[in-house]
Amino acid sequence: MSNVPVSEAPGSDVLLDVRHLKMYFPVNTGFLKSTMLKAVDDVSFSIRRGETLGLVGESGCGKTTVGRTLLQLYKPTDGEVWFDGKKIEKGDSLREFRRRAQLVFQDPYSSLNPRMTVADIVAEPMDVHGLYKTQQERYEKITDLLARVGLSSEQSTRYAHEFSGGQRQRIGIARALASNPEFIVCDEPVSALDVSIQAQIINMLEELQQELKLTYLFIAHDLSVVKHISNRIAVMYLGHIVEMAEANELHHHPVHPYTQSLLSAVPIPDPDRAKASQRIILQGDVPSPLRVGPGCVFQGRCSRCTAKCKESVPELKEVSPGHFCACFQAE
Ligand SMILES: Nc1ncnc2c1ncn2[C@@H]1O[C@H](COP(=O)(O)OP(=O)(O)O)[C@@H](O)[C@H]1O
Ligand SMILES: [Mg+2]
Repeated sequence: MSNVPVSEAPGSDVLLDVRHLKMYFPVNTGFLKSTMLKAVDDVSFSIRRGETLGLVGESGCGKTTVGRTLLQLYKPTDGEVWFDGKKIEKGDSLREFRRRAQLVFQDPYSSLNPRMTVADIVAEPMDVHGLYKTQQERYEKITDLLARVGLSSEQSTRYAHEFSGGQRQRIGIARALASNPEFIVCDEPVSALDVSIQAQIINMLEELQQELKLTYLFIAHDLSVVKHISNRIAVMYLGHIVEMAEANELHHHPVHPYTQSLLSAVPIPDPDRAKASQRIILQGDVPSPLRVGPGCVFQGRCSRCTAKCKESVPELKEVSPGHFCACFQAE
């Protein structure tokens, strides 16, 4: 497909390629009436082997749905997912993909079964995919996984509810690693944790990436979280990617008005620079995805909106090498 925005040279080592992904949910709007909620509407991106792509945007813009749909936890309304050069479809390719691509959940309090021991939680993906021959091998793998995330084998017989939030997220990460995946969707893995714990978990995810040669889609609602861990960053607004670029480039030269406002909300540690910079305050809230009319999704909150923006949807276009933006004003 030629109109897929892939921000790297052809022939580079792409592991995951998401093409025109759509996820619409039917929702009831009254007696016997329903309408489609367009949670993800034509999203395309690719991730190179070993790369981290950050995915940011306000709550409700569709980040989790992108992650879950590309992992085939939802059946996409439309679009394709290619992994390691193969299109993911039903049958063997899907089963193999489920082993090689994993999810770390946002909330370690609700995502771990309180009635299961840590050992059984961590081993579940190995059980599902039959990844050991003997109970001894299973036990050794559990011990190894727990050690990787900084937990001891003695803790394996305890229950999830006995652990703190940070430790629970370590258990969730160990489980995600159990099937020897190459790709992990990290869905706001530190949002539910104390600020003091967040850096530990992020550093650990970075170390694991190096050791195990992992590729990440790293979701966050806050740009300051993804800034350091990401090679490239994609910015979402109401089901669409509105800008995508190298992390540094996006920080220093944001083009889309939405990205500019997100960045202006990030606190600047240097007081002189902070004074010189202008905060762009967004008017209004994110509209409901049920009430999206024609034209650009950002029109209602954009200070540069023109008549054209109300009529047609701007496509994600390359504005400088490797930098993509969906805004008529940027073209
Ligand atoms: N299973 C579902 N059924 C109906 N609507 C959903 C479902 N999951 C998410 N949504 C809606 O899709 C939109 C995007 O949600 P989500 O992907 O969770 O956003 P984010 O992760 O960015 O906060 C929201 O409006 C949400 O209410
Ligand atoms: Mg989410």
